[in-house]
Amino acid sequence: LLADSLYIINNFARDYFQETLTNSEEGQNIGLSYFEERGFTAETIQKFQLGYCLNTRDAFVNTAIQKGYSLEYLQKTGLVTIRNEQPADNYRGRVIFPIHNQSGKVLGFGARILGKHDKAPKYINSPENEIYFKSKVLYGTYFARHAIDKLDECLLVEGYTDVISLHQAGIENVVASSGTSLTQDQLRLIRKYTNNLTILYDGDNAGVKAALRGLDMAVEEGLNVKLVLIPDKEDPDSYVQKIGAEAFREFIAQNKQDFILFKLHTSLKDVGNDTQRKSQLVNEIAETIAKIDKVEDFTKQQDYIRQCSTLLNIDETAMVQLVNRFIR
Ligand code: GTP
Ligand code: MN
Ligand code: MN
Ligand code: MN
Ligand code: MN
Repeated sequence: LLADSLYIINNFARDYFQETLTNSEEGQNIGLSYFEERGFTAETIQKFQLGYCLNTRDAFVNTAIQKGYSLEYLQKTGLVTIRNEQPADNYRGRVIFPIHNQSGKVLGFGARILGKHDKAPKYINSPENEIYFKSKVLYGTYFARHAIDKLDECLLVEGYTDVISLHQAGIENVVASSGTSLTQDQLRLIRKYTNNLTILYDGDNAGVKAALRGLDMAVEEGLNVKLVLIPDKEDPDSYVQKIGAEAFREFIAQNKQDFILFKLHTSLKDVGNDTQRKSQLVNEIAETIAKIDKVEDFTKQQDYIRQCSTLLNIDETAMVQLVNRFIR
C-alpha cells in the first residue's frame, strides 16, 4: 500500500537523520551543538527523535535508493526533490523535527535552517500526501496525550521548539499549531482528551489575532478557552529557558485569563465612543456566547451573559434576547 510505503520511508529517514546528528562529525559539530546551544538536553533530543541532514547534495537520497526505496515515494514525502534533473536532499544542512501522529508514527518533518535565513525559509515542512494532512495534525500530540488526559487541560503553543522546551521543563500537556490558525479537526483532536484549552501565544499582534480567529470555532467545539499572553519578544520556548520551569508555571497560573472576556476587553479598548462599532461588538460577543452549548452548559452561558452585559454596559435581558437570536 502507498500509505504504508510512506510510513516506512519516513521511519527510515527519521532513523537516518538521528544517526547523522549523533554519530557523524558534521552532525555533532553543527546539528548537535545547535540543539545544545538552544538548551536541549541529550534526553530531550532523543525523546523527540531530532535529527540533522548533512549539508551535501544527495547523501540521504543516495543511501535511501541504495536501500531500495523508490524515488517516486521519496519525492512524495518531500524528503527528496529533483534539482537539475538529479535527485537531491530537500533538507540539507537543516536540523530535523519529526512530526508524529497520536500513536507515534512519523507523518512528516519540519526542517529548520541554521544561522541566518534571509533567503531561504526558516522552516521547511513536509508537503501533504496520503498520510500527512496538516489541518488534522497538532505537533506533539503523541508526547502530550497522557498528560493532557490526566491534567484535563491542553496547552497550545505556536512552534515545535515551544513544545520541546516545555516538555523539558516538565510541562507535558502541550501541543503546537505550527504557526497556522486552528482548524476544526485540530480542535476535535483536542476534545478527544479534554474540554479545557489554554492558548499560550505571543503578546504581539499577529499571535493574538491568530488566537482570536480560533475562538468562535473552539467555543463551538465545546471547549473552555483560556489565554496566557507571553511577554513581548518572547515565546514559550525562550521564556521558559529564561526564567526557569518553576517561575514559568507560576507565570501561567497567574496570567491565565478567560478568552471570551479577553476578547471583550481588547475590543472595548478599540471601540471607544463609536456607537456603531460598539453595537457591532455587542453582536459579535452575543454570537460567541450563543455558541456555548446551552443544554450542556446553561450556567456557563448565563455567567457570560451577566459578565459581558456589565462590561458592555447594556441591559442583561437585552443581551439574553440578542444571544437567543443567534441560537439556531
Ligand atoms: P525557532 O525560531 O526555532 O525558535 O522557531 P519558532 O517555533 O519560535 O518559530 P516561529 O515562532 O517563527 O514560528 C512558529 C511555527 O511556525 C514554527 O514552529 C513552524 O512550525 C512554523 N514556521 C515558522 N517559520 C516558518 C516558515 O518559514 N515556513 C513554514 N512553512 N512554517 C514556518
Ligand atoms: Mn516567525
Ligand atoms: Mn509571533
Ligand atoms: Mn522560538
Ligand atoms: Mn516562536
